[in-house]
Amino acid sequence: MAKIMAKKKILVTGGAGYIGSHACVELTQAGYEMVVVDNLSNSKTQSLVRVEQITGKPVTFYQADIRDKAALTDIFVKEAIDTVIHFAGLKAVGESCAKPQLYYHNNVYGTLVLTEVMAAAGVKQLVFSSSATVYGESTCPQYSEDFPLGPINPYGRSKTMIEDILRDLSRADAINQVQTPWKIALLRYFNPIGAHASGLIGEDPNGIPNNLMPYIAQVAVGKLKQVSVFGNDYPTPDGTGIRDYIHVVDLVKGHIKAIEILDSDAFAAGACKPYNLGTGRGYSVLEMIQAFERVTGRTVNYQIVGRRAGDLAECFANPDLAFKELGWKAEKNLDDMVADTWNWQSNNPQGYE
Ligand code: NAD
Ligand code: WQD
Repeated sequence: MAKIMAKKKILVTGGAGYIGSHACVELTQAGYEMVVVDNLSNSKTQSLVRVEQITGKPVTFYQADIRDKAALTDIFVKEAIDTVIHFAGLKAVGESCAKPQLYYHNNVYGTLVLTEVMAAAGVKQLVFSSSATVYGESTCPQYSEDFPLGPINPYGRSKTMIEDILRDLSRADAINQVQTPWKIALLRYFNPIGAHASGLIGEDPNGIPNNLMPYIAQVAVGKLKQVSVFGNDYPTPDGTGIRDYIHVVDLVKGHIKAIEILDSDAFAAGACKPYNLGTGRGYSVLEMIQAFERVTGRTVNYQIVGRRAGDLAECFANPDLAFKELGWKAEKNLDDMVADTWNWQSNNPQGYE
């Protein structure tokens, strides 16, 4: 007789944020039980209300900081957590240069506390939000997981440090011959954009957006005057920077594949492995602006300005490993990403306000 396996309970740190809220929808719809912890430093509870609206199921939410060991321990005592997806973190590159201690404290120390509490509770399956920003500059613009790491700002270094810590934890389990070793997936995201097809949840940056897509969307909706295109003298076909934009729903589906694999024998006990989550195809800044105009029928004013410090000319993923080992690949195309961004932005011109 076939054994019916109960779905696992997932703790989602940073679950009220942009990517976390989309993960909450997909996890619920895939039948997982879910608990969210977020300190709301860069999000609002309204995102979780919208998640409930989409799924028709209540969200269990704890407002807490992952650095608060007592609060986190309490959650692990109350909830029988099986796996953690760890999105909680600060992510603004410019802010990280101005406030490095904040970034190391929040991101690195926060992850240390989280892993200590997890280990004490015997929960050793972790999916971590890493970033393509961990890679160093390379002569080949298509990045594979084995490329050398070399982040160039405190935000990126916080992600690399966390990856190192997580690899060390796995190695320590082997040395100590523990019975239930860590199983860790380091998911290196390229450029997440887009929104849930309902238009109820999406990216709601504080103040002026740093990233291209939310900036374009806010120009199209009339909140901002024009996009500044940072440089048109790069060695790319139209001179503007090329990136691998990935739909946020595709991205979070990669997390569901990761938790499935971590929970199976296909992922070796004691392993800590990186996976690129990208489409494998890049688009230039001007191609993004043109796609936005074509799909939405809106004009997106722009002007060419100087390069932004620290930007690469071209960066896109080799996503083959995620396909081979997680059985995941991005399904949505550029028009889907633009249409869903616009659906969210035009229905929520002030974000969740
Ligand atoms: P986000 O800011 O929308 O979400 C992060 C969430 O974590 C927020 O809700 C915030 O309130 C919460 N948080 C931050 N510090 C916390 C703490 N100490 N305790 C509890 N909650 C805390 O960002 P996002 O775009 O959803 O990114 C999620 C993760 O993915 C981050 O770790 C980010 O570094 C990583 N990432 C994002 C991108 C991107 O372009 N969006 C790319 C690569 C990696
Ligand atoms: C994309 C392209 C810009 C804004 C950043 C972080 C990275 C990761 C994802 C978290 C580049 C150009 C941008 C604008 C522009 N986040 N641009 N005008 O820089 O690839 O990555 O977000 O991990 O760590 O660094 O993304 O959206 O900022 O830029 O011309 O107003 O658009 O120069 O070529 P980036 P982005």
